Amino acid sequence: MIKRITVKTLREMKQADEKIVSLTAYDASFARIIDEQQVDVILVGDSLGMVMQGHDSTVPVTVDDIIYHAKSVAPQCKRAMIMADLPFMSYTNPNQAITNAARLMQEGQAHIVKLEGGEAQLDTVRHMTRHGVPVCAHLGLTPQTVHKLGGYRVQGRDDTVAKQMLTDALALQDAGADAVVLECVPVDLAQKITKELEIPTIGIGAGRVCDGQVLVLQDMIGISSLAPKFTANFLEKGLNIPEAIAAYVHAVRDGSFPTDEQCFF
Ligand code: KIV
Repeated sequence: MIKRITVKTLREMKQADEKIVSLTAYDASFARIIDEQQVDVILVGDSLGMVMQGHDSTVPVTVDDIIYHAKSVAPQCKRAMIMADLPFMSYTNPNQAITNAARLMQEGQAHIVKLEGGEAQLDTVRHMTRHGVPVCAHLGLTPQTVHKLGGYRVQGRDDTVAKQMLTDALALQDAGADAVVLECVPVDLAQKITKELEIPTIGIGAGRVCDGQVLVLQDMIGISSLAPKFTANFLEKGLNIPEAIAAYVHAVRDGSFPTDEQCFF
């Protein structure tokens, strides 16, 4: 019998210094292969707006879109924990957030939901976790607010922003968050946040100092229109898709991904 990864497993992995491996999936075929390759967390991310729907941001993605893709992914996965994104404007207050989170869990069969933001989301995170909804927060570069941030850029190089990010991470943990994604954050700051938190950090462009790594599948197999600095094409070197995913899992677990070249300082 295959044991399902849970939020408890993720905490135990952090304590045992075992790296958490996460990858996005949006359809049944990839979800099955990714689960078979022992990826711990499969993210049905709102990145689907860019890589599946062809938009230039995640902003147009709806709750129904996430549910549609999560429904294809979840039944294929025996081991991985399924994380689903709450999309833009689907969690502007605690009641709206919990209603949409319930849909992601009941209709989409997700085990945990992810939302972007710090201080502004504390009441929402508290409300959801008190009612039994596992939550992963997302700090640093938060793609849903790309138009407010003025582009896809590294966050936390400035002292004030860095201090606020650490404060936010600790407050989210106090509010009941089970994990935090750190996107495009300088390595030193990601290391500080990872050290201070009891809950795991999962990095994307935040260095190997994080407790785990996540990548967008299409970036990882080199078929995205743009390859961000923090990704790597694991399909090179003549590997097939299952082998490439296995190579990614192996590289995260043994600490060889990401390299300094894929990090921000
Ligand atoms: O939607 C997504 O794929 C994400 C990752 C970039 C972490 O949020």
